[in-house]
Amino acid sequence: MRVLVVGNGGREHALAWKIAASPMVEHVYCAPGNAGTAGCAENVAIAATDITALADFAAVNKIDLTVVGPEVPLMAGIVDLFEGRGLRVFGPSRDPARIEGSKAFAKDVMHKSNIPTAEFWVCDSPAEALDRLARYFSEPRSANGVVIKADGLAAGKGVTVCDTREQAEQAIEAIMVQRVFGDAGNQVVIEERLTGPEASIMVITDGHTIVPMLPAQDHKRLLNNDEGPNTGGMGAYCPVKGLSAADVSAIIESIVRPAIDTIRELGIPYRGALYAGIMLTPDGPRCIEFNCRFGDPETQAVLPMLKSDLVPILIAALDGNLASTSVEWYGGASVSIVAASGGYPGSFKRGVPISGLEEAAQSAGCILFHGGTRVSGNEVVTDGGRVFAVTARGEDFAAAREAAYAAIAHISFQDMHYRTDIASGAA
Ligand code: AMP
Ligand code: GLY
Repeated sequence: MRVLVVGNGGREHALAWKIAASPMVEHVYCAPGNAGTAGCAENVAIAATDITALADFAAVNKIDLTVVGPEVPLMAGIVDLFEGRGLRVFGPSRDPARIEGSKAFAKDVMHKSNIPTAEFWVCDSPAEALDRLARYFSEPRSANGVVIKADGLAAGKGVTVCDTREQAEQAIEAIMVQRVFGDAGNQVVIEERLTGPEASIMVITDGHTIVPMLPAQDHKRLLNNDEGPNTGGMGAYCPVKGLSAADVSAIIESIVRPAIDTIRELGIPYRGALYAGIMLTPDGPRCIEFNCRFGDPETQAVLPMLKSDLVPILIAALDGNLASTSVEWYGGASVSIVAASGGYPGSFKRGVPISGLEEAAQSAGCILFHGGTRVSGNEVVTDGGRVFAVTARGEDFAAAREAAYAAIAHISFQDMHYRTDIASGAA
């Protein structure tokens, strides 16, 4: 088989790495890829958002399966376009992908399916949002704070978790008046703030059957001890301590399956990867969000734990055959540490030379997944906010953590930043 992976982050490097290991696969392309995907796939200089050029490439190069990493091409209808041209592609089509692209649609699905989630209000104007906020802050639960979300895609950065009313008012001003996330600020979602540890539950579904991946935990904040701003994710570990297989099944039944069933009943069946962001509150698991794709960096922590070949699972999802698929996982644990450019999630430099990548990749038990990197002359240089992730698998979290931190210590670039407490709460 010839497989095309769409995207250029660490998640896509992990997907290309796992797909290239399949005995069913003879060639992997990655569009546009990064300096790391060039090691396990052939990079193709087409942007992940140029869906017409991607379909032309897949047709001309007789691609048997395309796997889409990021949400933007899914929201733009890459799956509808490929399927219309008779090309096989893994991911949800445009309508069900709104589960991520529109917070309001996601909340509507949660409401129709009785999925436990935070109470929320969708507001269409700054005046309405400020009025709603004033009422919320007259209630005792506001002591926990409030969450303000831009309605639309904002690269994981459209969410502000606010301790005070003043912070919430500033977030509304930034989203709806200054339009820092563009059209994602047409509507704002004001949400009750929940508390508790988080878990990322990723599944593969054909629209009926659900194959869960091992649960993972992301570290969303930039700095140690979960301080600083929210990011796309600074590291992840897998599985989640204290979340048993029975707990995961309960989350699937109360949160994931109702969403997939409701979306199917809307006439827009969901096929592909679905990611549920869960908060384990004192009152039980609550759904924080759905994503229409695999997580980044969760995928870099989870795929190395998958013993089975991924490719037959993806194909079974496309063929509506997942019920006959069995999936095996390794025991132990994995830890993935992200290194980011100085300044991320704000502005940062690109083109900074990186040293020590080869030494890190050779570290025992480690896999190096590139994110924002590219080749410049005979050097690998930075080309994004999250530059790479080092994943290690071990018999327990302590062993995996130690191996991952030993490997990342080989790598350096100017203003490189990583958290030193990834998975420290897990062991
Ligand atoms: P989202 O993009 O919706 O996943 O939000 C990003 C992050 O913001 C989540 O992973 C949580 O850490 C936090 N968050 C979102 N919604 C809530 C909520 N209702 N209560 C507390 N934290 C939240
Ligand atoms: N790591 C969070 C996400 O992929 O949305």
